[in-house]
Amino acid sequence: MAKYTVVSMPGDGIGNQVLPEAIRVLDAVGFDATYVHGDIGWEFWKSEGNALPDRTIELLARHRLGLFGAITSKPKKEADAELSPALKGKGYTYYSPIVTLRQRFNLDICIRPCIGFPGNPLNFIRKKVQGGFEEPRVNVVVFRQNTEGLYCGVEWTNPPDPVRAAISTHPKFKPFAGVAGPDLAVSLRIITRPAAERICRAAFDYAKKYGYKNVTICEKPNVVRETSGMMEEVARQVAKDYAGIPLWSTNIDAQTMWLTKNPEDYGIIIASNLFGDVISDAFAGLVGGLGFAASGNLGDEVAVFEPTHGSAPKYAELSPPIVNPIAMILSAAMMLDHVGERARAERVRAAIAEVVREGRVRTYDMLRIPGGRRAIGQGAASTTEMTDAILRELETAKVGTTAD
Ligand code: NAI
Ligand code: MG
Repeated sequence: MAKYTVVSMPGDGIGNQVLPEAIRVLDAVGFDATYVHGDIGWEFWKSEGNALPDRTIELLARHRLGLFGAITSKPKKEADAELSPALKGKGYTYYSPIVTLRQRFNLDICIRPCIGFPGNPLNFIRKKVQGGFEEPRVNVVVFRQNTEGLYCGVEWTNPPDPVRAAISTHPKFKPFAGVAGPDLAVSLRIITRPAAERICRAAFDYAKKYGYKNVTICEKPNVVRETSGMMEEVARQVAKDYAGIPLWSTNIDAQTMWLTKNPEDYGIIIASNLFGDVISDAFAGLVGGLGFAASGNLGDEVAVFEPTHGSAPKYAELSPPIVNPIAMILSAAMMLDHVGERARAERVRAAIAEVVREGRVRTYDMLRIPGGRRAIGQGAASTTEMTDAILRELETAKVGTTAD
């Protein structure tokens, strides 16, 4: 019996291309696991009216560890049109399976590392005052609250009367009092103290474990006084338990400006759902973008690791596949960290670092050329060639053999 069982959910499009590459790398570092396939994605919406079948939920509940590729989701009209004729008109509604997963297993802690690999031609460079350029070392890990905030889904256009009556009791609603219902859209931003505490504690624990020098709470408490205010207050409380790790507080708007000014100064960043989504994409842009952006969704019991990118349908049919598997492989390395296999995770990251540093094998995104059929002819490595290069590095002594 293998030590771990991992639910492998490739999903749609390029998810099917990158997830098997991650498993090749996990095998190469001797991760003792078996993989069980979990159905997820558009195909299952079309054929079963459910993009996340119950059997996949059961697999995750049993094995508690998942790797996820990507899914395709489409607007309501297209979703309805593509539903199997036998299911049409029977009241099926499309829900994003990844959002459902997060809610079902309360995967409220989202970790998104944005760590530059030296030699990556996509890394951000900055003009120096005295002339020339410099490349700041970006090593930021965003902790995004994954289940609440503006993405909680409590929203209305034309709010029902009791809701309208309730919000009308707020003095600040006065300017909107005359707005006709159909012209009024309201999205609630809900923050709860326990969830705020969990994300803050997870962030500080991580800072302590991995030696980050500071933690930043990135919100907007001067304006969004209640919800951002609570996030900041809780962060300050939690920080008291972590002597030696200073807590900084920034506003999301200023933070995006400082992003290019001094990104190397930041370590861990905590943010609520929408702000965390924004700031993690922004930092990811400094270190290579979607081909490098990994993430983990952690709950108390279940953890699912996935690249930030989607299913990139326009590249899904290409043979050989051309997309960069590094984001998926880095997500698998995060899974190794999570289960306590840190030495193996470090080996994976070191092998990727070496391939990037050498610069001989680069997928199309790393060459800044258009993706598509002609990319390979223009010198781009295929998806499998990139993994092959990483596997070769793992075989050499250069990246160590300290797996056990
Ligand atoms: P996308 O992330 O799939 O692709 C956007 C573009 O980024 C691609 O066309 C490609 O140029 C580049 N890209 C993405 N992954 C790459 C990789 N590994 N290597 C190199 N380049 C890469 O986002 P898009 O086009 O907005 O959405 C496509 C589908 O994916 C939609 O149906 C959307 O709903 C879904 N989606 C799913 C996500 C998930 O599964 N978590 C996240 C984002 C989008
Ligand atoms: Mg996003």
